[in-house]
Amino acid sequence: MIEGKGIRILVNEVATRDGFQMEDHFIPTDDKVALVDRLSALGYAKIEVTSFTSPKAMPALADGEQVMRRIARRPALVYTALVPNVRGAERALDSRVDEFNVVMSCSESHNLANLRMTREQSFAQLVRVVSIAQAARVPVNVSLSCTFGCPMEGEVSLSTVLDWVDRFAALRVQGITLCDTTGMAFPTQVQQVCAAAQERCPELEFTAHFHNTRAMGLVNTIAAIDAGIRRLDLALGGIGGCPYAPGATGNVATEDVVHMLNCMGYDTGIDTEALIDVAAVLQKLVQHELPAQVSRAGTRLKRHEPPVDFSDIVARAHARGVIQETS
Ligand code: COA
Ligand code: ZN
Repeated sequence: MIEGKGIRILVNEVATRDGFQMEDHFIPTDDKVALVDRLSALGYAKIEVTSFTSPKAMPALADGEQVMRRIARRPALVYTALVPNVRGAERALDSRVDEFNVVMSCSESHNLANLRMTREQSFAQLVRVVSIAQAARVPVNVSLSCTFGCPMEGEVSLSTVLDWVDRFAALRVQGITLCDTTGMAFPTQVQQVCAAAQERCPELEFTAHFHNTRAMGLVNTIAAIDAGIRRLDLALGGIGGCPYAPGATGNVATEDVVHMLNCMGYDTGIDTEALIDVAAVLQKLVQHELPAQVSRAGTRLKRHEPPVDFSDIVARAHARGVIQETS
């Protein structure tokens, strides 16, 4: 395992997109804007603010334009949004996003379920989306869903993943996110896929995106970093998931990963205590317990009060000679 040694890890917060799209009730626009503004102060490299998808398919994010327009932008931070098609690209441009995060799946079944298109139909839309973005000088990242397996088809082969990586590289996109949409990835697979993708297209910026569905999110994150990945999608509180992927549950939690990486000496640029404070705000918005663990347990050096009868325990230990008096 590699020591952090100050290696910079760039964090993209996806709670307001991957997270909110999975919530049962609509989070009011004012609350979304206020949350993004709080997140903007925490040291992220990027925030995925919303998506420009069909409001019928994704009612939770139907207010994408309003949120993008009202947030207070910090110049060093990239404010990105998910774009599935040409209509979404037009909305994203109107909203002056800093980046298009276009989406399609490596799996035919998941692409049909999620985007109502075959992969080839999606790709044809995205070719047009990329040219719209390039004409407007907006960078494009591609989120490839089901990179590590599909909940309906099972295994997704490495060659399938690399073919899609190649096809997007040929369009001169800036980066590709390898998405484990329903938490099917395991560490040795993560290392193999991440290494192969970076070797195939070293000019691309690769990001890892894990869901913690089978409790492998943290170890997969370490595997990705060991394989050279320096960009992570994380969701505060561990909320998230794709409503059109059966069995999807939350993303790996920002506070859990940042806490772990900070302990190991990586430079995430983010303070865990500050994340925990904002996670408390998030919990009020979503109105349910967050899956993240560190926001519940606190950081590893958090001091707890001893038991109420601790002084009696110590006195009895002295009386029994268990504790020797020191002079
Ligand atoms: N933004 C706003 N409206 C859109 C839109 C977009 N990006 N894309 C399509 N629409 C509208 C159309 O204008 C049309 O409206 P109408 O019924 O009033 O005429 C309606 O949605 C249907 O359009 P169509 O092109 O037939 O879309 P579809 O129903 O086949 O859905 C997608 C295709 C891609 C738009 C839809 O499946 C989608 O938004 N999926 C997103 C899924 C997602 O975000 N998953 C989680 C992330 S992995
Ligand atoms: Zn996801």
